[in-house]
Amino acid sequence: MIIQASLQHAGVLHELGAETFYKAHQDSAPAHELATYMKKAYNLDAIKKELANPVNIYHIIEHEATAAGFSKMALTMNHPAIALERVSKMDQIYLLDSFHGLKLGAKLLRHNIDYSKSRGQNGMWLVVWVGNTTAISFYEKFGFRIVVTDQFHLTDTHLSPCYIMLLEYANNNVQ
Ligand SMILES: CC(C)(COP(=O)(O)OP(=O)(O)OC[C@H]1O[C@@H](n2cnc3c(N)ncnc32)[C@H](O)[C@@H]1OP(=O)(O)O)[C@@H](O)C(=O)NCCC(=O)NCCS
Repeated sequence: MIIQASLQHAGVLHELGAETFYKAHQDSAPAHELATYMKKAYNLDAIKKELANPVNIYHIIEHEATAAGFSKMALTMNHPAIALERVSKMDQIYLLDSFHGLKLGAKLLRHNIDYSKSRGQNGMWLVVWVGNTTAISFYEKFGFRIVVTDQFHLTDTHLSPCYIMLLEYANNNVQ
């Protein structure tokens, strides 16, 4: 089951976010840089603030009544390397390790794509760390393509190399 999250889910998102972000990025930066970023981005107050901002659309996916992962997206978010108008940004999609490979990620991503399409958007872009080969392959299965290499500003002292990937709905036959 996929539910759209609201302020009452802040605690769940805080727990899911901290664990899954660390697991996915532990090889991307020194531990102290990751700790600094996570303290800033995934503390409970920060999550509450993000949830209270109507621009952010959070979903939680449950498996057998347990929260297995979450996503965060926003409609009409520009990127300088993307000329397409009215394009959504998939900001975060993370599942707990024990729920990988069950097609829950595919279900959650498809849900976000459908949500975006039904609101007249023309595509979806995202940022992925270059070392996250699992996620890159996963996105490619949906038709996302690398547009440009960029840098993700993790902290004031660490930039992580990343790809900007784009899915153009008009060119996409994958459901
Ligand atoms: C990336 C992630 C969301 C994928 O979700 P998932 O539930 O494990 O993946 P699914 O079971 O839905 O797999 C969907 C498809 O991708 C494929 N896939 C999954 N991992 C893959 C890999 N390493 N290489 C190639 N294809 C892969 C599956 O085979 C499946 O394809 P199929 O339908 O043709 O069999 C999940 O692994 C995750 O949360 N990873 C950690 C967090 C993360 O890195 N998030 C992205 C940050 S940018």
